[in-house]
Amino acid sequence: MEPATIVLFGATGDLAKRKIYPALYNMFLDGKLPQPFSLFGLGRREWTDESFQANIEKSIKQFSRRAPVDPESIKSFISAFRYRVLDVGCEEDYRKLLEQVEKREMELGIPQNRLFYLSVGPELFETIALQILGSGLGTVKGWKRLVIEKPFGHDLDSARLLNQTLSQAFTEQEIYRIDHYLGKPIVQRLESLQQAHPVFHDLWMDRKIANVQITANESVGVEERAGYYDRAGAIKDMFQNHMLQLLMMTAVYIPKESTSGKGSSKKTKVMEALKPLQKETVRNHVVRGQYSEGSIKGNAVAGYKAEPGIAPESMNDTFIAARLQIDNDDWQGVPFYIRTGKRLKEKSTRIVVEFQDAMEPASQESLAPNLLVFELSPEETITLQLHSSKPGRSETFQPIELDLGTNPMNSPEAYENLIWDALRGDPTFFAHWNEVELSWLWVTPILEAFAENKVPLLPYEAGSYGPAEADALLEADGFHWWFDDKQHLTSDRKGRTSYAYHTND
Ligand code: BG6
Repeated sequence: MEPATIVLFGATGDLAKRKIYPALYNMFLDGKLPQPFSLFGLGRREWTDESFQANIEKSIKQFSRRAPVDPESIKSFISAFRYRVLDVGCEEDYRKLLEQVEKREMELGIPQNRLFYLSVGPELFETIALQILGSGLGTVKGWKRLVIEKPFGHDLDSARLLNQTLSQAFTEQEIYRIDHYLGKPIVQRLESLQQAHPVFHDLWMDRKIANVQITANESVGVEERAGYYDRAGAIKDMFQNHMLQLLMMTAVYIPKESTSGKGSSKKTKVMEALKPLQKETVRNHVVRGQYSEGSIKGNAVAGYKAEPGIAPESMNDTFIAARLQIDNDDWQGVPFYIRTGKRLKEKSTRIVVEFQDAMEPASQESLAPNLLVFELSPEETITLQLHSSKPGRSETFQPIELDLGTNPMNSPEAYENLIWDALRGDPTFFAHWNEVELSWLWVTPILEAFAENKVPLLPYEAGSYGPAEADALLEADGFHWWFDDKQHLTSDRKGRTSYAYHTND
């Protein structure tokens, strides 16, 4: 990895504190930061280098996955950090910053490789990108890259406009759009799993799949983000980005040479093949809901309309479930079911691939189908649940569990993976513009149908699994959501065989 400077906008903000500094620190410990490494933190607050470094230390002690923090290593780590006050709209501030960055590059003897990380509200993206262009900060002898966080627009038109502006200052190859779901360790292992294990490869390629279920249930409510969330809803906050990215990642077989961006073009193909919905018939494929009061883990919680900052007449969706169809040879006839929502019974993010039964219907009655289960959160496990015949009793079957899990304590978090990739210039696990544009295009009829109230907004009790209509979506096709209420094939291990198979830890 070539030495580089990170220029971090929003250095005093919450994301930097919770995610970026702890990630950089763990990367530092793992030898994944460029050497030498330099970071300029920018913000409006009147901090000094010293107060900046002290704040970073505090955030690491609070949020690092590695604890306790070693005093020597943290001292050496924070010495690379400098702070500058910057008004994002002020040209003069950028010119001063340029001088300071150049001076530091000279001192350290490092090339002009600059990674601009915009950890700020989306309303500032365009201003900052244009100022980087105008001030000469982006005129480098080495490489320059722009890292931005979602939301990338709030609908198709605004996303296109944003992209046009950003592309005045950065090429597509230089833009790294973070979708933190793509940084999740299990998502990053989908590729190697499909490739490295002939069994999985064959399962995928043979297309013996009955359906795919993607769930991102959360028990938290709107939290302190009423202003943003009440405009976004589950559809823009989670579905258009994270959920569709998970669908793309599940539906592609990413080739090894994916560093050249080929992974992205395969994902784009999945999005292109996603059967469009029509505004008038969205309600046949999509369920939208909003939580009412209830209780989660024994604690009473308020309904959405009673949350601070939410209007009592709000028609915002806090839950969405949908049935999607990928119209290509590989996935013809295999429904993808997606659901996500707030204030549900528990936090659980998972992908379940349900295989077709090989048995004749008459002998299936007591059998559960074979499942490949990717638990993304809170557990990080990959489990293959197969049925095999019991020795000597060929008419009865029992599940075999193949556990490919990792230990989350030892595995890098999403932001570590993503910042490392951005520094190395590997775009594989970032959202390419084509994917973002096609995702917005695909959700547009849903947004219109919601806006025109063509899809009923169903109340669901906080602490439930969402509206019953979300279950009916699958039941109509003869399926059901797996693992609600923990109906787990292997929850009772008595008398069952379990093979633990660890791939890389
Ligand atoms: C964010 C959404 O992108 O993802 C939040 O804005 C949501 O509303 C969060 O809570 C979920 O992320 P994770 O990693 O906790 O599943």
